[in-house]
Amino acid sequence: MSTESKLQPAVDTAEADAAVAASANGSSSKKGKTPVVAGADADDPPGGRPATAKEVEDIMRKLGKMDIMQHLNQSNGNDQKSRKNPKDMDKYKFWQTQPVTRVDEKVESNGPIEVDKAIEDIRQTPYALPKDFQWSLIDIEDDKEAKELYELLSLNYVEDDDAMFRFDYSAAFLKWALQPPGWKKAWHIGVRVTSNNKLVGFISGIPAGLRVRSHQQQLVEINFLCVHKKLRAKRLAPVLIKEVTRRVNLEGIFQAAYTAGVYLPTPVATCRYYHRSLNPKKLVETGFSYVPRNMTIARMIRLYKLPETTFTPGLRPMQPEDVPQVTALLNDYMKTFPMAPFFSESEVRHWLLPVPTVVFSYVAPDAKTGKITDFFSFYSLPSRVIGNALHTHINAAYLFYYAPKGLGDDKEHTQKLLKDALILARKEKFDVFNCLDLLQNQGFLDELKFGRGDGNLHYYLYNYRCQQLKPEEVGLVLL
Ligand SMILES: CC(C)(COP(=O)(O)OP(=O)(O)OC[C@H]1O[C@@H](n2cnc3c(N)ncnc32)[C@H](O)[C@@H]1OP(=O)(O)O)[C@@H](O)C(=O)NCCC(=O)NCCS
Repeated sequence: MSTESKLQPAVDTAEADAAVAASANGSSSKKGKTPVVAGADADDPPGGRPATAKEVEDIMRKLGKMDIMQHLNQSNGNDQKSRKNPKDMDKYKFWQTQPVTRVDEKVESNGPIEVDKAIEDIRQTPYALPKDFQWSLIDIEDDKEAKELYELLSLNYVEDDDAMFRFDYSAAFLKWALQPPGWKKAWHIGVRVTSNNKLVGFISGIPAGLRVRSHQQQLVEINFLCVHKKLRAKRLAPVLIKEVTRRVNLEGIFQAAYTAGVYLPTPVATCRYYHRSLNPKKLVETGFSYVPRNMTIARMIRLYKLPETTFTPGLRPMQPEDVPQVTALLNDYMKTFPMAPFFSESEVRHWLLPVPTVVFSYVAPDAKTGKITDFFSFYSLPSRVIGNALHTHINAAYLFYYAPKGLGDDKEHTQKLLKDALILARKEKFDVFNCLDLLQNQGFLDELKFGRGDGNLHYYLYNYRCQQLKPEEVGLVLL
């Protein structure tokens, strides 16, 4: 249960179908991919001159429909495809036993599904694992154990449908993601093979504060659920989920937030991924993108070219002394969304101060007062490219939290601020910049040439009934 949803080609429109058909002569068109169309195009501007605004608009309209960004998907194999759609509740053999909103339920009011348990009513001993396996808490401060977790995830975590890409969270990222203020080793739960101690399963919880409409509370965010590929479909995931729930309950917490690409009972919101190409050539070479009809690589490179320098005056990396101001600014901005986290200063220090190769954060002060008016951050989550002769990884930046001046009421200002994020991400050698359609992101996606993915990312709350929210009502960003 993590934010492992990714991009797919929106090749479901008539135009896209026509393009696939037109370009398929003799090419090996793998499902979901459009082969590269070589050569000049009728609407290519002559003489290599820059495209006019009208031409760019035209190209973007086409790209919007059958965008280049393809493949990473939130599922972990073709068998998952069917899991992207709701099933009848009685088909969810595990989830029907859990305090979650039923798929057929009409939610009238918000609140916990089950009342908090008394400590003596909580099971005191771990759930039983199948013979030959044992529980093993992961000591994420220990480099050797962090590396073991990194290896489990780098070989077994989320892949796209065609097994071309797999998330490759770095060990440094995992340490950061699993150790916010109040973190507990008891919530970093591994499963090992008893005979050789090999780590073959994992699930984690971290503490967080979340507000849903007018109600706010502490809960856990569940992430990095993973079972080794050779042990799939053996019902280990429900045991991991029950065990983390038990350990969280023992600390007096009875609600959780999590995301998944698969459809489970029942999303509180469903968001969509968007992708902004920064390095089109490499994305095409890896098979992550393709060159659509009426497009050439050269034109794509021109289309996605970014200025060398940022627009926002005074923009600079965030520093420790900025923490109080960023906390206030971010919490004010978060209040404008019906479901959003709230942050203490120590959480902002942890989550938002730059960590090399992991998280990048920038602030902009007002020229006269020096007060910070704008802030944004993005994190690094590479994907391993499986079996590609040219490239081993796609370096993807993911938009994290931000807060624009005036709480985002000036759309053009927010667009410029986020364009600066793209410029800085490109300078840091990211190949693609990803975000969801939550926060006020819908206000800059078209303008900044993001393409729509076709994978959904569902947001879930455990033991909390909540009326459905639109993507733009969500302020929570999970890793
Ligand atoms: C997700 C994963 C741990 C599930 O394990 P599995 O071996 O495929 O499935 P199991 O037989 O153990 O369990 C199946 C149950 O888990 C549920 N499940 C599957 N994926 C889930 C997810 N991401 N979150 C919560 N529950 C999930 C299924 O719905 C099913 O329950 P149901 O009978 O109520 O429908 C495993 O497929 C995996 O490691 N995938 C790669 C990483 C990944 O996708 N992680 C989740 C990121 S959101």
